[in-house]
Amino acid sequence: MSYKITLLRGDGIGPEIVGQAVRVMDKAAALYGFGIEYADALIGGIAVDTFNDPLPRETVDMCKSSDAVLLGAVGGSKWEGLPAHLLPETGLLGIRKELALFANLRPARIFGPLREASPLKSQIIGDALDILIVRELTGGIYFGDRGRFDDNGSPAAFDTEKYNVDEIRRILKIGFESAMGRGKKLCSVDKANVLESSRLWRQTAVEMAKEYPEVELRHLYVDNCAMQLVINPGQFDVIVTSNMFGDILSDEASVISGSIGMLASASLGSTKLGLYEPIHGSAPDIAGQHKANPLATILSCAMLMRYSLGESDAADSIEKAVAKTLDDGFRTADICKKGEKCVTTEQMGDAVCERLL
Ligand code: IPM
Ligand code: MG
Repeated sequence: MSYKITLLRGDGIGPEIVGQAVRVMDKAAALYGFGIEYADALIGGIAVDTFNDPLPRETVDMCKSSDAVLLGAVGGSKWEGLPAHLLPETGLLGIRKELALFANLRPARIFGPLREASPLKSQIIGDALDILIVRELTGGIYFGDRGRFDDNGSPAAFDTEKYNVDEIRRILKIGFESAMGRGKKLCSVDKANVLESSRLWRQTAVEMAKEYPEVELRHLYVDNCAMQLVINPGQFDVIVTSNMFGDILSDEASVISGSIGMLASASLGSTKLGLYEPIHGSAPDIAGQHKANPLATILSCAMLMRYSLGESDAADSIEKAVAKTLDDGFRTADICKKGEKCVTTEQMGDAVCERLL
């Protein structure tokens, strides 16, 4: 068996972290008896520099003809002032839309040895922290109508949050089903006290709850959810929410679990083809310095093997190797306490590879 994986290394630290992830995937493939063929394609700033397009057609076609896509990160100050259609981020939103990846799974769990890296006090974290954020990824305000206009002489701008009931149902379904496979607790997050789109969201969640009698559903307003995450994160099992709220809450959840450099994600649609990426950005300030934490990308590869390749043993073994690497004291700068020895991006990759069994 051999799989095709498209690599979108992207900008900033993207190439460094994807480089380590590829080494880990190769080792896992050799251990579990399958092959991987990689093909590189451009996205983001580097694609703008090369083709004047953050998402060249060729990239989309290559992604569509592969079993899975691994993405590093896009963006950087170099491209910040460009018109919207040339922004690296437009390429990222574009590939999610092109591949119809409407569901973004972002697991935030705390690895035991990293408890002290969390900004939260140990008694607040409690015994364990294991939250799955299910973020809607191809709708809402990130894809709604937007524009500039003249508001009686003052320059004005607008963005629109719009969801239809089918879009809401399909993401809630992922939320309910994920909850069924875990702790059976689902928290739907909205702003139904203000937004009409949130009222439709909540109404749909209430109706769908009848189809999942075993799941305990509750609703939180997004502002309250942001607060609950830092005062009692242990109360959450699965959180399902819109594109923008999920973007914001998943960054918050990630630092609670120690570092944004630890959080993986899977973007899925209705076929097996998925896109996997760390939730952090391109960190241009540390690019090329061998400091970046590759673990979020490596953990994204575990999700890739589980969801797109169906190689769940390889996926489990990557996750175990990461846990062991942390147990054995390996720390990149972002998770390194004062006085601890920091390792480089490559040394972290080495350590995970050595622990893969
Ligand atoms: C993320 C990122 C992206 C998003 C940006 C870079 C467009 O913040 O994956 O969370 O908002 O989806
Ligand atoms: Mg984000």
